[in-house]
Amino acid sequence: MKVALAADHAGFALKETAREFLQARGFLIKDFGTYSEDPVDYPDLAARAARAVQQGECTRGILFCGTGVGVAITANKLKGIRAACCTDCYTAACAREHNDANILTLGTRVTGPGLAMRIIEVFLQTPFAGGRHLARIEKIRALEDKER
Ligand code: RB5
Repeated sequence: MKVALAADHAGFALKETAREFLQARGFLIKDFGTYSEDPVDYPDLAARAARAVQQGECTRGILFCGTGVGVAITANKLKGIRAACCTDCYTAACAREHNDANILTLGTRVTGPGLAMRIIEVFLQTPFAGGRHLARIEKIRALEDKER
């Protein structure tokens, strides 16, 4: 599985931790930056990684900022992206099982690195449950088609 990573300056350190964590477990990574703690604007970074997921270059994305909220809002502007900001493993599992989320967002100022890596593991290992949830995803797609 190829995973797109991106962060702003607030999320940079956690992105680096996640990159090493995922590489050690055999995941392919595409790192869209940022590459230092110099201030940047989170929409620029989040949009690059989300585009890679939207276009199928990467299977999943993980985005980092101070709260996980700004990058989630940005990613969800792209058609076909279902980004979930998660602060616990239960939500991460449900985001995959029920919502078929293709992007996870994490807040560096909210979630510590140990829990963040657990959330990432759960997010990447949990399949979409399909069934009754599929019709709901179709309704999200229908809304996207109406809006754009
Ligand atoms: C940067 O200070 C901060 O605003 C950003 O990382 C993020 O939390 C926005 O949602």
